[in-house]
Amino acid sequence: MRRAIFPGSFDPLTCGHLDIIERSLPLFDEIVIAVLNNPEKNPMFSVEERCEMIGAVLREIETEKCLLTVDSFSGLTADFARKKEAIAIVRGIRAVADYEYELRMALMNRRLEPSIETVFLLAAEEYSYVSSTLMKQVFTLGGRVEGLIPKAIEAKMREKADSGN
Ligand code: PNS
Repeated sequence: MRRAIFPGSFDPLTCGHLDIIERSLPLFDEIVIAVLNNPEKNPMFSVEERCEMIGAVLREIETEKCLLTVDSFSGLTADFARKKEAIAIVRGIRAVADYEYELRMALMNRRLEPSIETVFLLAAEEYSYVSSTLMKQVFTLGGRVEGLIPKAIEAKMREKADSGN
C-alpha cells in the first residue's frame, strides 16, 4: 500500500490544489488530504468545514486505482505522516518563489522522519499564481475567482459571505 499525505491549510481548496491531487493519483494507492487544524491563523473556514468541502469535491474525481481520503491533523506533519504509515508527503510547487520555503520544510520533515520522502509536483501553469490567500482576498473584494476555485467551494464562500460569518 503506497500511501501519501498531501498536507496543507486548504483555506479554501483551490483548482491549483486539485491539479496537484489529480497529478498524484497515478503515483499512489491512497492519498490523504491532510488539513492542518490551525485556528490561530484565523481561517475563513473551520477545519470541519474544510474537510467536508474537500470531501465533496473529491467525490467528483474519477479514481480507479487510487483512494482519496480527507483527514485533519494538529502538530507536526511528519508525525501525522508517520501515524498514517505514509511513504511520501506531496507538495505542489507553483513557481521558483515556492522553492525555498518548500525546501526548508522538506529538509526539516526529512530530519524528523527520514523514511518519508517529500514528493514535489509542478502545478499547471494556469494555476501558477493561485493561492488560497489571493483567492480569499479577490473574492472578498468582489473580484471573479471562477475557474480558479472549484464551483462547490466558491458556493460555500458565497454562503459564508452572505451569512456574514
Ligand atoms: O497550505 P500551506 O499553508 O502552505 O501548508 C503548510 C503546511 C501545513 C504543510 C505546514 O505549515 C506544516 O507542515 N505545518 C505543520 C507543522 C509542521 O510540521 N511544521 C514543520 C514543517 S517543517
